[in-house]
Amino acid sequence: MGNKGAIGLIDSGVGGLTVLKEALRQLPNEALVYLGDTARCPYGPRPAEQVVQFTMEMADFLMKQQIKLLVIACNTATAVALDIIREKLPIPVVGVILPGSRAAVKTTKTRRIGVIGTQGTIKSHSYRQAILSKTADTEIFGLACPKFVPLVESNETRSPIAKKVVAETLQPMRRNKVDTLILGCTHYPLLRPLIQSYMGDKVTLIDSGAETVGEVSVLLDYFNIANPDPTAKGKCRFYTTGSTKLFDDIAKEWLGFSLHSEHIELGIGG
Ligand code: DGL
Repeated sequence: MGNKGAIGLIDSGVGGLTVLKEALRQLPNEALVYLGDTARCPYGPRPAEQVVQFTMEMADFLMKQQIKLLVIACNTATAVALDIIREKLPIPVVGVILPGSRAAVKTTKTRRIGVIGTQGTIKSHSYRQAILSKTADTEIFGLACPKFVPLVESNETRSPIAKKVVAETLQPMRRNKVDTLILGCTHYPLLRPLIQSYMGDKVTLIDSGAETVGEVSVLLDYFNIANPDPTAKGKCRFYTTGSTKLFDDIAKEWLGFSLHSEHIELGIGG
């Protein structure tokens, strides 16, 4: 492992690529290895115990790839599995909920914060607890958006249907008059233009995943495990439990370069 080991990123599908994109920008000399459990996506509607089990399977797979730090680049998995995985693994494990909460607290002026995420994330109240633990006099409005992840996983992020779904889903959130909206699912930054346009320019969107990379950077230094060679160009490897073609197409569009993911099997399916 050592300082040359890779940073691992896991998600239920392509959502964690929003975190990986930011890692490429902020930590260009680090090697990255990504695993998306596309075959079992979405995690949002699944029971917490199942999400914990699937997340553990992903973490085990990446541990065999000699990773030096793990990012749970999925809010749903972070909400229920972060503490458990942290306890089990001998390496630092980072989730996406605390960094997103901190950024929202820093940003809001009206102390009215919205959180959109999967059913699992919203039901867990993880963002609410994280925000209120820092600033009690804040109003937090949570909204589950179960139709968003299927749109992203089918590469439907710009179609008229996507626009309609975003508008219909976010209607109740717009009425809450928040000034800050947390994209509490790593898939949602792929719908960012539609979300921003519907919510209006006065609402600041917080990308939890992107905020997380700042924290990863701090932890690499804290644990003295950053790649010390600033001229190194970190390599990326990609694995998916689903269709490599669809994964590669979405990844190419989002990251701006071609890649070839490898198919792997985890567990016995779900
Ligand atoms: N990208 C994930 C998240 O941040 C999960 C989406 C899902 O599988 O439902 O919550």
